[in-house]
Amino acid sequence: MPFDWKTVDWDNGRVRMIDQTRLPETVEWLALETVEEVARAIEIMQVRGAPAIGATAALGMALCASQSKASDSRSLLEDLSRARDRLARTRPTAVNLFWALERMQAAAQKLAGRFVPEIRQGLLNEALAVLDEDVQANRRMGRSGGALIPDGATVLTHCNAGALATVGYGTALGVIRGAAEAGKRIRVLADETRPRLQGMKLTAWELHQDGIQVTIISDNMSGSLMRQGKIDCAVVGADRIAANGDTANKIGTYTVAVLCREHGIPFYVAAPLSTIDWSLESGDQIPIEERDSREVTHIGDTRIAPEGVPALNPSFDVTPAALVTALITERGVVHRPDRDALKVLLER
Ligand code: MRU
Repeated sequence: MPFDWKTVDWDNGRVRMIDQTRLPETVEWLALETVEEVARAIEIMQVRGAPAIGATAALGMALCASQSKASDSRSLLEDLSRARDRLARTRPTAVNLFWALERMQAAAQKLAGRFVPEIRQGLLNEALAVLDEDVQANRRMGRSGGALIPDGATVLTHCNAGALATVGYGTALGVIRGAAEAGKRIRVLADETRPRLQGMKLTAWELHQDGIQVTIISDNMSGSLMRQGKIDCAVVGADRIAANGDTANKIGTYTVAVLCREHGIPFYVAAPLSTIDWSLESGDQIPIEERDSREVTHIGDTRIAPEGVPALNPSFDVTPAALVTALITERGVVHRPDRDALKVLLER
């Protein structure tokens, strides 16, 4: 069965999303009715992946507007500003969250002074545009990025940058889908991606649904496989890209990039322009989320680490731009991304 539904959507006054904490065992859809529920869903990763988080935040703002009891534009904008603050406190690294919130705030500002129902409708339209543009951008990346993948390639990916991490189709997995749709025979190796296992639980699940050949490997296997010539390229997504091309993505991505460089294997990053944070000079300034160490020391409720030993749990790492063979965006492919190449992209 092809994976062709929307991971997050608007459904009759509610925010509808697939609960990613239940996958792959159970496919369960949530219908969220309050901004607080939407914020919690992002925090506990019922929805995750940078573009999906951004789209969810946009829908959260539309939900706030649709539910607000405000009778005039000024009080509605105050409610929206409170919703924005709550949604912004959920996860710090994926810049798409802040990009979407700013876009919704700007749309609200433009409508200031209009009647409340008009503002509500305007914000819903804006959120739905964010969703549509996401899928279109991913399909464009799929076409241009797919062309970089050779027929018969074995492609390594890390974490989940698929349909589940976006509204649909995916960024890194969109590139893989694009290559497969172009008729190429592709085999994917999915890093399991400790500690949350997005690669094993989500990437493997959605590619398997699509009939794309996928094999799970544990995170420490890729170096040896590269040395044996069994990996042709790596494609990953991104949570935030600084203006110089340094890229934050799921913890372990940097290791993959270094291994690719050592073995002369192309390392591709696929991300929409909304993932580029033009305000940051370099990746050193990207805030890295530190999550609960129980994600490392426990499996479910069972402790697997010795009592009393602490664990680190940074959720993301930064790969220097110099290790990125090409950045695949909806505006085209940038080989050897750096500050100048990204500026050219912005002007395209
Ligand atoms: O912690 P997560 O699961 O939200 O992290 C997701 C990733 O790191 C993805 O690779 C990234 O958001 C790109 S998704 C298209």
